[in-house]
Amino acid sequence: MVPKVLVTRKFFPDVFSTSGYQVEYWEGRGPVTRDRLLRGDFDALVSMLFDRIDCEVLSSPRLRLVAQYAVGYDNIDLQCATSRGIYVTNTPDVLTEATAEFTWALIMAAARRVVEGDAMVRSGKWAEHDVPWDPTLLLGMELKGKQLGVVGFGRIGLRVGEIGRAFGMNVAYWSRGRRFVPWATRMELESLFSTSDVISVNLPLTPETKHLVGERLLSLVKPTAILVNTARGPVVDTEALVRALSSGRVAAVGLDVFEEEPLPPDSPLCRFNNVVLAPHLGSATTEARRAMALTVVRNLRAFLEGDVPPTLVNR
Ligand code: DGY
Repeated sequence: MVPKVLVTRKFFPDVFSTSGYQVEYWEGRGPVTRDRLLRGDFDALVSMLFDRIDCEVLSSPRLRLVAQYAVGYDNIDLQCATSRGIYVTNTPDVLTEATAEFTWALIMAAARRVVEGDAMVRSGKWAEHDVPWDPTLLLGMELKGKQLGVVGFGRIGLRVGEIGRAFGMNVAYWSRGRRFVPWATRMELESLFSTSDVISVNLPLTPETKHLVGERLLSLVKPTAILVNTARGPVVDTEALVRALSSGRVAAVGLDVFEEEPLPPDSPLCRFNNVVLAPHLGSATTEARRAMALTVVRNLRAFLEGDVPPTLVNR
């Protein structure tokens, strides 16, 4: 019998059709329902980062592999999967460039007030301004010679740092890993927050990193600093961030990820002109999203052929 994979969102069917599995897509509106997940009539599952893959879902006797379509997999109970002998894979590397570039899109937008400028043009406020070119209009921050502090120096954080270097920035990083690069300075979190001009959060979400960026660290940032998060929303404590913004303790913020996704339009974060918001677009390039699907399929095929899936996370 051909094994079956349930893919919880329909996209790139030409890629999934090469998986060697009988492919069923969840085609309902919104995320796959709990009922569908619990039916347990599939051997492999391709999950999205918003699907909650807990021990109940993982208790299906038929399920052998969960192939997450993302590099982050905090939505999957990894310990439970491992204890049940279920392989979990993710999609690292192929989205590093896209996510690092998007981090820079947010840094640049925040540093040079691109969104405020766009709003000014569209709303007619530029047309109403008394002069067409104002020497003090929407002044931003130049990056050359400033300090970039990267929180989490994995693949994406490293690439964010490399791009920062190309801008002529001094790169500092905080990491629990052992990575060493001669052009960047390892710092304690407190020093990184108190000395950086741009702080980029590039950490996975784990119980240890939840609300890591909270009141204490935010109280240390320079009032001229920019904070950007393209990792996972809950790494930053939203309420503490809103307080920091309200009291002018941070100059500008760029957010691609949120504690609650989608971010409700009445969120206090939407009230600040100096906050650039994006709907979780870090890896959203045609190249990366297709390569992520190909990585998922490589994992599915390897598993079918009795090999260890190439991007297994529970080794
Ligand atoms: C991931 O891969 O974890 C991103 O959040 C989506 O690409």
